[in-house]
Amino acid sequence: MRLVICDTVDYVAEWSAKYVMKRIKDFEPNKDKYFVIGLPTGGTPLGMYKKLIEFYQAGKISFKYVKTFNMDEYVDLSRDHHESYHYYMYNNFFKYIDIDPQNVHILDGNAKDLTKECENFERKIEEAGGIELFIGGIGPDGHIAFNEPGSSLASRTRVKTLAQDTLEANARFFGNDINKVPKQALTVGVGTVMDANEVMILITGSHKAFALYKAIEEGVNHMWTVSAFQQHPRTIIICDEDATLELRVKTVKYFKSLWDIHCKLIEDISQLKI
Ligand code: PGA
Repeated sequence: MRLVICDTVDYVAEWSAKYVMKRIKDFEPNKDKYFVIGLPTGGTPLGMYKKLIEFYQAGKISFKYVKTFNMDEYVDLSRDHHESYHYYMYNNFFKYIDIDPQNVHILDGNAKDLTKECENFERKIEEAGGIELFIGGIGPDGHIAFNEPGSSLASRTRVKTLAQDTLEANARFFGNDINKVPKQALTVGVGTVMDANEVMILITGSHKAFALYKAIEEGVNHMWTVSAFQQHPRTIIICDEDATLELRVKTVKYFKSLWDIHCKLIEDISQLKI
């Protein structure tokens, strides 16, 4: 597992966006070879999306041959509700870039048959050739997507009832009224994310420090679903200083000593050719 410790939240955004850009460019996608990416919502990735939009506007990257699969969506929330993840993705990312709407996949939380919707989602990922890079965020309780504590680490896309902690954390988006927060969501499973070739997880803020500690310094445990990625051969966690507060000094020192090696991962290929 790689842990990239950035000084600030802004640098987490920049580092992760540069990493995504480099991965897409190195892949050299074309009409016969799409780059398939898994995407999260939430406050944490917003800065990364902003940077990617900047890179697109500066002509550094295109999303023409990119297919996206989002991690999750609320059940029974209309698509145009400002807290739906359809709304979030369109307004924070997709409307600013050159992605073909046909290549965007977001679970439909209003589908008549939710189980079928989840099965179809898994099938579409398979048909797209699997996910090359799955990006995720986590909650303070260590959940990834809506895989709440206790979720099976082999889980697939399914309907999930949200934990009280998640309802409380998300109440701020629904006028601080917990009763307005949808109680269920459709979410990819831990197993779905584990199937990706690479998993990149963004973790910022001291409120997630304990979850980061559980993710990397303790064992794999379904009560901290993010810890499952210890067993993925290519996991990269990008965090800020605040998120490292519960880690051992030894752990932090080790990963910081790798800074130069990590920076090679985002070196601009065009610069290298000069
Ligand atoms: P956040 O949410 O990025 O808004 O903190 C992440 C999550 O709960 O998965």
